Amino acid sequence: MSRNIFVLTGAGVSAESGLGTFRDKSGEGIWARFDPMKLATPEGFAADPKTVLAFYDERRRNLRNARPNVAHHALAKLEMGLAARGGHLTLVTQNIDNLHERAGSRRVVHMHGELLKARCVTCEGVDEWLGDLSQNDACAYCGTAGGMRPHVVWFGETPLEMSDIYRALLRADLFVAIGTSGAVYPAAGFVAEARALLIETCEINLEAADNASLFDDARYGPASETVPAWVEETLGA
Ligand code: OAD
Repeated sequence: MSRNIFVLTGAGVSAESGLGTFRDKSGEGIWARFDPMKLATPEGFAADPKTVLAFYDERRRNLRNARPNVAHHALAKLEMGLAARGGHLTLVTQNIDNLHERAGSRRVVHMHGELLKARCVTCEGVDEWLGDLSQNDACAYCGTAGGMRPHVVWFGETPLEMSDIYRALLRADLFVAIGTSGAVYPAAGFVAEARALLIETCEINLEAADNASLFDDARYGPASETVPAWVEETLGA
């Protein structure tokens, strides 16, 4: 049977690549150590751009040293395997890293933006950005200096590609959330939308997400074990 699967990933899929998660039950997530209101809001950026840019510079450096793990590779295999069987994978990630792409996924929707891109607040031009970002950098498109910011979605801002995401959800016959705490909307609301559309739903996570009760099925454990096992099962079925 060909399948049209919608996968939503979160920080948990990159945890075993050494990139920290934001929230976990041990209380050691990124947002337990840093204040998201100061580092991930337009207001925080306006008040102290230097500190915000330094925070994302550090994360960009961490990403350079990280490698995709077997969960990223399994999802790339799922995309190819479904296509070969006449099916389709929509892969939407809340992650701003590029580990899905580096594992071989061809089409990745980054609803919360991308760490390796910067955006000009004057002309909205988006450019690849691999190094540190400073307050003096100029936009390659309009030449304005001092208006470059990380191309990431902050609290209070609208996630990217939302109409394409909802269109893809309408076509899906299975919705799977992997490694996400179900705490941040609108992504945390996709499972309810899927249920309303009578789409089967499954959570794959280390521990139950905040919205766990909305899923039909759940598989708990590290993504490096649960995701390859689920992909093998799905492609074998
Ligand atoms: P969170 O940090 O909120 O949740 C990570 C989830 O991954 C939790 O449910 C963990 O239990 C799970 N997890 C941890 N290690 C895992 C492993 N090895 N295998 C599988 N699961 C594991 O991350 P997100 O839900 O992605 O937004 O966070 C959503 C958004 O909140 C982020 O995109 C970011 C953040 O603020 C912005 O920056 C706009």
